Amino acid sequence: MPSALVTGWVCGVCGAAVDISVPFSWRCPNSTSADRRHALRLQQGAEPLRSSGEANPFLGFRRFLAWDGFAAAVGLSDADRAALVADLDARVAAVQGHGFVTTPFARSDALSDALGFTAEGGVWVKDETHNVGGSHKARHLFTILLHLVTAERAGLAPWSSAAERPALAIASCGNAAIAASTLAAAVGWPIRVFVPKSANLHVTKRLGELGAQVVECPRLVSDPPGDPCVHRFREAVAAGAVPFSVQGPENAWCLDGGRTIGWEMAVQLSGLALDRVFVQVGGGAFAACLADGLAMGGLAMGGLAMGGSLPRLHAVQTVSCAPLDRSWQRAQQFGGATAAAQHWAECMWPWELVGDSAADGILDDETYDWLPVLGAMSRSDGSPVVVAEADVLRANELGCASTGIDASATGTAGLAGLLRLHDAVQPDERVAVVFSGIRR
Ligand SMILES: Cc1ncc(COP(=O)(O)O)c(C=O)c1O
Ligand SMILES: [Zn+2]
Repeated sequence: MPSALVTGWVCGVCGAAVDISVPFSWRCPNSTSADRRHALRLQQGAEPLRSSGEANPFLGFRRFLAWDGFAAAVGLSDADRAALVADLDARVAAVQGHGFVTTPFARSDALSDALGFTAEGGVWVKDETHNVGGSHKARHLFTILLHLVTAERAGLAPWSSAAERPALAIASCGNAAIAASTLAAAVGWPIRVFVPKSANLHVTKRLGELGAQVVECPRLVSDPPGDPCVHRFREAVAAGAVPFSVQGPENAWCLDGGRTIGWEMAVQLSGLALDRVFVQVGGGAFAACLADGLAMGGLAMGGLAMGGSLPRLHAVQTVSCAPLDRSWQRAQQFGGATAAAQHWAECMWPWELVGDSAADGILDDETYDWLPVLGAMSRSDGSPVVVAEADVLRANELGCASTGIDASATGTAGLAGLLRLHDAVQPDERVAVVFSGIRR
């Protein structure tokens, strides 16, 4: 069956269109090294979401992936596409011990009771701690990897042998770096990971074991404002490295596979409607994909127009760094989320004084994928929530103790948003959170 579900990308800022068949379409054609304020989003037909039933979401939901549309457009048969996913997954399993599987998602009775929900309402927890790389991050990166390998096999890559492959590059010292290095190791692709001087030694040790080249990035006197790891990452990309990034403006293909989490949740709910979802936000790709995936699932459940069936989305950040909340407030002055794309510089800029938090994975000074998150909050009648450090700590303690899941404070930060908004949530509401990463 030809896969014409996804036809391509359109930039939400400048309107540029990119056909799905274009290889290496990482960024908007008008995005430059001086101005990354572009946001490609997928153009997708409104076909009801269905899973084939396969446990690996990249197989179960394959025909809804933009990657599947790309691979079909460049000549891979349906059987070849399925075989490629299975082949890469087997390689991941050889490194990780297991490949991609549908992760658990269920009502936590203990957590629901502790928070005073009735039997009708409650808190549903999606557990990503045993996913590939110990977090949801590999979902984003797997579609970039699939794209690369597909382009290579279809003869579209400018390099002629595996030995000439350009290195992958990522700026991260946490879950994204581990996920990226795990996938790179699976296919033997060289990878450079740009980390700050303060990087967690357990993480850098693991990256080394996975064969990644770890590059420490002290701030240089010549550096412009912003994260020096991102500067070094962009220099590497400008010099030919592949942006193996979980930030949409650096590589939009991360926004494809990230949706599998929302698709899984939609199917696992089997018709049960959620009222709210609280999602921890750093760079924003996670929340953007979760919302997008759930909205597509809502269609399958006979929901309203695209996005209309989305539960109220609450993007959660800490007081130490809340640029998304600031952008939400600023966007109101320009007529709200829909108008915000034309006012990027006035709504979103790096948080000046990033403080500390136990939820250190969401301290990105900029919410790179802010536009889709703002749009989803607005369409769903949601809102951003800024939590205190005490909420972050209590959420982690309560969340882990009541579910038995060993998640990090970043991973349970969405629950901190529910604690903060607790008095505004009715006891019979159904609320979802994602415990997105394991404690290290
Ligand atoms: C466990 C975990 N959850 C959530 C996030 C936030 O994802 P995003 O940066 O896409 O907003 C991160 C990011 O590092 C993370 O490590
Ligand atoms: Zn653009």
